[in-house]
Amino acid sequence: MNRVIVTGASEGLGFELSKLFLEKDISVTGISRTRPNLKVDFIKTDLTVEEDIENAASMILKDYSDFDAIINCAGVLNVTKANELEYNKVAQLFKLNVIAPMILVSKLFDKIKANEADIVNVGSTLGFKAYQEQAAYGSSK
Ligand SMILES: NC(=O)c1ccc[n+]([C@@H]2O[C@H](COP(=O)([O-])OP(=O)(O)OC[C@H]3O[C@@H](n4cnc5c(N)ncnc54)[C@H](OP(=O)(O)O)[C@@H]3O)[C@@H](O)[C@H]2O)c1
Repeated sequence: MNRVIVTGASEGLGFELSKLFLEKDISVTGISRTRPNLKVDFIKTDLTVEEDIENAASMILKDYSDFDAIINCAGVLNVTKANELEYNKVAQLFKLNVIAPMILVSKLFDKIKANEADIVNVGSTLGFKAYQEQAAYGSSK
């Protein structure tokens, strides 16, 4: 494996995964709003903004097209009771957790097929269990 694309590489799971890849001499293209404190190739991207996703996909195809996997790790948890959901907050959560990985993979689809690259979508046990206070997040997972 030569290179992995990791969204949400600046923090949490994406950061730790990126660190592990780098330790194995696998190059990482990190995608997030904040630059990861790691030696990754970085594409500053707000994954809730359509133009940013398009720009990230273009840059990957131009400069980092040798990728073997894309890990969709960027995600946000919104703890709101099922009877208190707000349209804009749910829409923002779905933009990041659902729409962004779909569109990014779609833009890269031909290259993913050509490279026989893996697509990893980070889920959650909350995608299988229903909790009243995590209705939106659980649905997105
Ligand atoms: N933590 C858990 O217990 C847990 C359990 C099960 C599943 N998960 C899943 O694991 C994944 C990572 O979770 P985590 O807890 O490691 O999260 P985290 O520490 O909060 O990190 C979230 C990452 O997503 C990025 N991100 C957030 N909003 C973004 C945006 N608008 N555009 C681009 N990047 C954005 C952040 O980067 P910037 O802020 O720099 O943009 C950051 O790198 C998520 O998909 C989550 O659903 C987590």
